[in-house]
Amino acid sequence: MQEGEEGKMKSAAAFEWGDELPRLDGERIVLRQLRDSDAEDLFAIFGDDEVIRYWSSPAHESLDDSRDLILDTLRQFKARTMFEWCAALRDSDRMIGTCTLLNVDIAHRRAEIGYALNRGFWGRGYATEIVELVIAFAFGPLNLHRLEADVHPDNAGSFRLLEKQGFKREGYLRERWHHLGRIEDGVYLGLLRPEWLELKGK
Ligand SMILES: CC(C)(COP(=O)(O)OP(=O)(O)OC[C@H]1O[C@@H](n2cnc3c(N)ncnc32)[C@H](O)[C@@H]1OP(=O)(O)O)[C@@H](O)C(=O)NCCC(=O)NCCS
Repeated sequence: MQEGEEGKMKSAAAFEWGDELPRLDGERIVLRQLRDSDAEDLFAIFGDDEVIRYWSSPAHESLDDSRDLILDTLRQFKARTMFEWCAALRDSDRMIGTCTLLNVDIAHRRAEIGYALNRGFWGRGYATEIVELVIAFAFGPLNLHRLEADVHPDNAGSFRLLEKQGFKREGYLRERWHHLGRIEDGVYLGLLRPEWLELKGK
């Protein structure tokens, strides 16, 4: 580790795991804990075949699938392996997406990032704002060193979103996913904390 990096790390506020996900505030977006009352908005996202086209699990078939997901996200947060935030519009608290840090490994200071937005909100820069908030949390209070992502080779929007943040393509993983009756490849990307700090001029 470089000296400068260690200095910055010491100054980062430490995150303390409690019962609730930390709230992260952006300009237009708030990231907060998912609630039961978000089930319909969650279903609007994960019940949409276009949204899950490059995802790793099938579309939700009913509101119960979405309710189960909410319960599972809380269980995994309490087990300290995952953060799955609800991304809501700051003005109305309307849920428009999710952003996840999964496979959180504190010993090795790494996690994987994932995200999905309601299709009606694509292309307006919301995903960029959401991902920036989560990366700043991961490399700040959570004190991670490395973030990873696994992207379908045809998911152009996801590549653009990550590469704008400094993620680099690190590997091509053949036939890694069985999704919607197909066997799909994955592209692995990684972002290191010092690279991101430099890119953001921090
Ligand atoms: C991936 C996703 C979150 C991007 O959301 P978004 O609202 O379009 O993101 P943004 O508006 O912040 O755009 C991010 C960048 O990607 C670009 N982009 C978005 N969709 C694109 C596409 N289909 N092709 C090429 N570039 C695209 C945008 O132009 C923008 O780049 P810019 O700032 O240079 O203009 C959204 O498409 C989504 O929810 N997809 C379904 C779920 C999914 O596939 N998640 C990723 C799994 S790895």
